[in-house]
Amino acid sequence: MERQIWLHRAQRGLQKASERKGRPLTAACITFGCQMNARDSEKLRGMLAEIGFTITDTEEADLVLYNTCTVRENANTKIYGRLGYLHSMKKKDPDKIIALCGCMMQEPGVIEAIRRNYPYVNMVFGTHNLYRLPELVACVLESPQEQFIAILKDTDEIVEDLPKIRKYHFKSGVNIMFGCNNFCSYCIVPYVRGREKSRSPEDILNEIRTLAQDGVKEIMLLGQNVNSYGKTLQEPVTFAELLDRAAEVDGIDRIRFMTSHPKDLSKELIRVMARNPKICRHLHLPLQSGSTRILEKMNRRYTKERYLELVSEIRSAIPDISLTTDIIVGFPGETEEDFRETLDVVSRVRYDSAFTFLYSRRTGTPAASMSDQIDENTMHDRFDRLLTLVQTIGREQTARFTGQVMPVLVESVNTQQKDLVTGRLGNNTVVHFPGSKSLIGEIVPVRLDECRGFYYLGTQARSE
Ligand code: 5AD
Ligand code: SF4
Repeated sequence: MERQIWLHRAQRGLQKASERKGRPLTAACITFGCQMNARDSEKLRGMLAEIGFTITDTEEADLVLYNTCTVRENANTKIYGRLGYLHSMKKKDPDKIIALCGCMMQEPGVIEAIRRNYPYVNMVFGTHNLYRLPELVACVLESPQEQFIAILKDTDEIVEDLPKIRKYHFKSGVNIMFGCNNFCSYCIVPYVRGREKSRSPEDILNEIRTLAQDGVKEIMLLGQNVNSYGKTLQEPVTFAELLDRAAEVDGIDRIRFMTSHPKDLSKELIRVMARNPKICRHLHLPLQSGSTRILEKMNRRYTKERYLELVSEIRSAIPDISLTTDIIVGFPGETEEDFRETLDVVSRVRYDSAFTFLYSRRTGTPAASMSDQIDENTMHDRFDRLLTLVQTIGREQTARFTGQVMPVLVESVNTQQKDLVTGRLGNNTVVHFPGSKSLIGEIVPVRLDECRGFYYLGTQARSE
């Protein structure tokens, strides 16, 4: 109810502001970070549109909202840099509204820095109270000289039914859980996203049914650790059960999910994936390190051997699966020998692709105070060696379907060559092939003629 009152106040404020300007006001929400943030941004745009803003995606907009990430230090540096740029624009247009939200805002110290050094930022909120956006917009429109800050440390509440503007009409993320309880020793996420909370299966399935009725064909179930979905619900449900039920929804042809923690990946999940063709043949399984000694210091709760065993269980149940991963190089105390264990796992698992990261020291995490931090040169040298291996194997793996006909969900007209369209295989590999705009949102069979590194060039094949 209170949300409605604030919404009306924001709508009235905006109407007055646009009368003063003599034109409709625009708003842009710019996303940094992961799929969770991308989905949050769809809700933020939904709320901005409900207030009455015209949604754009440029920083020229009357209101610019940065939905921030903080997983590595350079994510924060980037935001501070971009704020300087927004400030120069605001000097020319003092009515410009600058807003910040997302993970970085939950980090201790950041709010103080914004108060002190960025007084021109109009409003700030966090990851636990997105729904307060209309309230803060109303306050800023009424008192543009003040800075409004609303941060909650954590919450048990999940606010359902926020309006959303989806980026794609044919695919959508679906949050299934928020937060993380794992406390990997390098990671700031548990501190900024709070404790694990699962949405109820009914709420999730209702959302999927509504999306299917709306024409969505592909969904991505989102959570920091989807394999521990449902454990804290009053009536516990496993992630595998949820997947099974999601696959029953008519109209949904493809189901993806992100991210899996190896320690919680169950045999039941492997069985459900193997027997259910709607579940994409892709698993993102963060390794982080191949050294059992480092994994222990990372608090990952699996060993190199267990990880490899899990991969072979998955591969024998689902032979055509594509595996991808995240790897951190230069964790405190990582020796050349530890690093070689990582290279060894990469060679054995043969990932289709891997995100590789330089270890970033995040204040407040246990790893930040470990004594044996790795020097920059060693870290970069290892990073380059890892990247070379990951790319060589990735190219070979990606190419293994050359000559086959596979279904592609068409996403867009190719940006460089207008007679091509671009889509994705179930395993997430990008495919370009001759076709027209009318194919966007369709799943069509495509012959994979030629693999060019990490994508295919193909031709549409006849449907059976
Ligand atoms: N330094 C470098 N990479 C990190 N990640 C998380 N925390 C850090 C850190 N402190 C990486 C992990 C995770 C991905 C989302 O980001 O690999 O899986
Ligand atoms: Fe970045 Fe993690 Fe937040 Fe995603 S959840 S935006 S990766 S800090």
